Amino acid sequence: MSDVRLISAQEFEKHFGCKPTYLSYAPGRVNLIGEHTDYNDGFVLPCAIKFGTAMTAKKNGTDKMRLLAVDIDHDTDEFVCSATFEPHESKTWSNYLRAMTSLIMQKGHKVEGLDIAITGDIPLGSGLSSSASLEVTFGNLVSQVFGLDIPLQEIALTGQACEALNGCKCGIMDQTIVACGKADNALLIDCRSLKLEQISVPSNLDILIVNSNVKHALVGGEYNERREQCENAAKILGVKALRDATMDMLDAKKGQMDEVTYRRARHVITEDDRVLEAVKAFEQGDLAKLATLMYASHCSMRDDFEITIPEIDGLVEIIREAIGENAAVRMTGGGFGGSVVAVVDPSKVEQVKAAIDAKYEALAGRKATIIETHAFNGAVFTNL
Ligand code: GLA
Repeated sequence: MSDVRLISAQEFEKHFGCKPTYLSYAPGRVNLIGEHTDYNDGFVLPCAIKFGTAMTAKKNGTDKMRLLAVDIDHDTDEFVCSATFEPHESKTWSNYLRAMTSLIMQKGHKVEGLDIAITGDIPLGSGLSSSASLEVTFGNLVSQVFGLDIPLQEIALTGQACEALNGCKCGIMDQTIVACGKADNALLIDCRSLKLEQISVPSNLDILIVNSNVKHALVGGEYNERREQCENAAKILGVKALRDATMDMLDAKKGQMDEVTYRRARHVITEDDRVLEAVKAFEQGDLAKLATLMYASHCSMRDDFEITIPEIDGLVEIIREAIGENAAVRMTGGGFGGSVVAVVDPSKVEQVKAAIDAKYEALAGRKATIIETHAFNGAVFTNL
């Protein structure tokens, strides 16, 4: 045991006065390409990362979950396991667990009290899915401890429903990759059929995440507004979701929609194509092609979907300048802050780091954090 898993176990013992008997862990994720396509029934290509959330736990013989959030100043909470979701008025971290518990119980599953110590190392607000990681870690813990046998993809769907209860009408990408990731692979998710395909990430490529340290918050207007704009575009086009539309169809109806709606739809339609092309680029080990696709994705998010911010655009350009040709880099995640992802030849990593150190602070008034990762495994549960 290492890292957050070990810390969680130590903190459990300190707080609850005995050793935990279960360990659940799920990583965060980085999306390589396919942004805001998931809730349009489209395609995404994320992978799990080296950071994650750990929960150690033990049955407590009551009907209550008793929680210790190590990273939030050792904050605590407890709630009665019930099919009715009763949010805490201020402890938003606990509301994810409260919602997950009630959603699982609404399906008729019996859930009893657990003592749980939670800790994680995914930087909050970095666009690396700390909340999906929290939901899946907890959902899998409850499923395994009580023998509920909930398949990981169903835990992912429950996590998505949990986000909706907490105010974000997100898609299915984050919870699915966090649950189902495989080491050394990115996951192609068809967000309509929920079919999964593991796509090998060539071992001679590194994944670099650069956190702008401008925190993003998806629980808020902008994300849900984008989703509504997409749904509106689909309605005008007469399709179930933008997944079913082509650029020809969009151009034919251009006169029937406002300019913003047109651009939102153009992002999603072209982004779906880019995901499928990126899969080919990975399969062919074609970094130049991947670079073209990832930068086109970035420009589309910047100009058509309008979810990037100057600090993020600046980071992308700093990395492009440092690497030159073959800079496969784009913003990743929901937007409005967060992180940039780059797929790079390991020999370029030092160059990228030096360029960011030299230029980012002047542009953003803060330092960026650089994370080197590979693709990691998804959720795991262990009896201790
Ligand atoms: C957030 C959401 C996902 C997805 C991305 C954008 O991470 O949780 O469902 O929509 O934004 O691609």
